[in-house]
Amino acid sequence: MIVCSCNVFSDRDVRDAVAKDQPRTAGQVYGCLGCSAQCGRCATTIRKIMDDALGACAKSCCSGCPHQQAHSHAEPQPESMMLQAAAA
Ligand code: FES
Repeated sequence: MIVCSCNVFSDRDVRDAVAKDQPRTAGQVYGCLGCSAQCGRCATTIRKIMDDALGACAKSCCSGCPHQQAHSHAEPQPESMMLQAAAA
């Protein structure tokens, strides 16, 4: 299914980008796919696809998920900071 009619990419393209490049925001997905946001109407759908794709992963990231390692150099997000505080 085409998700972004401006850049013509599909939900599968988004899932592939999430699996390969681990973007953290919908905006980063455009970059992973070699384009940029145009009208932005697809951003909410991209976010939902990302949440679905990462749903199981997000719950297991505390136990060594490769996505966590990919983000280990990024600024801590409030949710991950709460998880770290709870683990300490
Ligand atoms: S539909 Fe994706 S930027 Fe317009």
